[in-house]
Amino acid sequence: MDNIQPLLPSSVIASRVAELGTLITKQYTANSVDELVVVCVMKGAFLFFADIVRNINLPNVRCEFINVSSYEGEESTGQIKLNYDLDVSAICDKHVLIVEDIYDSGRTLKFLVEHLKSKCPKSVKICCLLEKKDKALFNVDIDYVGFEVDKDAFVVGYGLDLDGIFRNLPYIGIYHTSRQ
Ligand code: IMP
Ligand code: MG
Repeated sequence: MDNIQPLLPSSVIASRVAELGTLITKQYTANSVDELVVVCVMKGAFLFFADIVRNINLPNVRCEFINVSSYEGEESTGQIKLNYDLDVSAICDKHVLIVEDIYDSGRTLKFLVEHLKSKCPKSVKICCLLEKKDKALFNVDIDYVGFEVDKDAFVVGYGLDLDGIFRNLPYIGIYHTSRQ
């Protein structure tokens, strides 16, 4: 993969995910929450979600899925498309943790928080694998962040894609259109 510059190896991702899982478990336990609905934001978060739910040790963890999209190539279209939604009954009166791949402009997460809050949850928190530094146009409070990445980098791998490819890479890398 000549045009992908390795950034985060799978071992580094795995240990950070384990740390986040431990922290999430500790904080919800301290607040006497024993039931948590963890929402996977498809498609980008699918690998991160699969790993983080196995590191959350609470008595009743439920997994739910939602699918939104806004990107074409390396650019956001600025429009969020809700491709697959979850039922109100899945989160109404429950504590919700959104698991997302990347906080870039914040448009997607702002939309998701407002959308899920309209379904009467007890609480909504966010766990995001990557945050693009100083990039946010829409301010959203992220409760758990994996790593910060450069705002100008377009990253792929470990679920993140460029037009649907590279999601299967076990590591995260920076995509360069042409690289010598
Ligand atoms: P936002 O709505 O601008 O915050 O963008 C968030 C969404 O855009 C994420 O859910 C990703 O799917 C996608 N995205 C943003 N930056 C990247 C990137 O560097 N690589 C791959 N996908 C990205
Ligand atoms: Mg996404």
